[in-house]
Amino acid sequence: MTTPYYQYDLHLLQRTLDELLDCISAHPGWHVHYAIKANANPLILEPVRKSGLGIDCVSGFEIEAALKAGFNPSGIVFAGVGKADWEIDMALRNDIFCFNVESEAELEVIQERALIQGKTARIAFRVNPDVDAHTHSNITTGLAGNKFGINLDLLEDIVARSMEMKGISPEGLHFHIGSQILDMNPFAELCSRINGIQQKLKNTGFTARHINVGGGLGVDYGNPEDNPIPDFRSYFDTFSRHLALQPGQELHFELGRSIVAQCGQLITRVLYVKKNPGRQFAITDAGMTDLIRPALYGAYHRIVNRDSSGQPQKYDVVGPVCESSDIFGKDRMLNEVRRGDTLAIMSAGAYGETMASRYNLRRLPGSTSLEAD
Ligand code: LLP
Repeated sequence: MTTPYYQYDLHLLQRTLDELLDCISAHPGWHVHYAIKANANPLILEPVRKSGLGIDCVSGFEIEAALKAGFNPSGIVFAGVGKADWEIDMALRNDIFCFNVESEAELEVIQERALIQGKTARIAFRVNPDVDAHTHSNITTGLAGNKFGINLDLLEDIVARSMEMKGISPEGLHFHIGSQILDMNPFAELCSRINGIQQKLKNTGFTARHINVGGGLGVDYGNPEDNPIPDFRSYFDTFSRHLALQPGQELHFELGRSIVAQCGQLITRVLYVKKNPGRQFAITDAGMTDLIRPALYGAYHRIVNRDSSGQPQKYDVVGPVCESSDIFGKDRMLNEVRRGDTLAIMSAGAYGETMASRYNLRRLPGSTSLEAD
């Protein structure tokens, strides 16, 4: 297959899904919606759908992709701080499970669109819990200064107002504190924040049917070979121990990265080895347009030379794009690299292919399964 391309290990994906299902089966009334923004490749969506997970979407086109892949609309949650009217309309037409509403202004538009269709929109309030996830600042979402969610001080008024609105059925509370979180303490903190909010909301007479705690569980980018499957058990245990669910209340999760990150690798060919005094570059045919995480977040991805058993040497692995941030890794020890070798950039299954762009008018990366490659 022409490089660069994403190669997905569907066997590992299945093992990951099996572990997830095994952990969650201990908790009746708990549901996982796969965050399709992490990876919307049909190769990935099929096993995810077969495993019975719902879907978390943030755009009309994600809803379209989910429906096309055969997901049931009754398992679709629709989040996003800026839903366009056409996106709200299509979600209503398809009777999705729930809108995660981020502001009073959005609530009014959803009401208006629902009344036009003669429907009632099930909604959850996306609350900004003001919890620090201690992750990269670009992927922190639950702090009061972020654009996401309804400010805690405004929540009671909005909830009270929604209860009087026709076309709106307030049903849940939604939270998301950030991504790539490996320390369980921020999740525990989120739980105690939710417990407080539930107490406070009692004044309004609103009891949520469901609580949605978003996603965010991280993966081991440093050592994917030894830790291919994330620690779902500790993650779910944290909620089980710290969250005081009301009787009959269901709990929803929106996990993306933890399900798909480790099953994907970006395969790229070395075009040139450039030797400067004191530094050598392995110049690959993949660039930041294929995998933007290192350039955008300074993210670490392990890189291995699949074709060489030569003496390890130090390389800067860089792409061909005309941007100095187009670097996959600096000072990486790789088995001696020659022109034509293929490198695997590991743990690239989440936020890799979906974030690819055509900058420099480059081709989008292809994809295949490890089994077919
Ligand atoms: N729910 C909401 C409301 C979200 O905003 C996100 C991710 C998720 C669920 C899924 O989170 P996960 O389980 O995957 O952590 N492009 C960045 C990550 C951005 C995450 C955006 N929101 C990256 O490559 O690290």
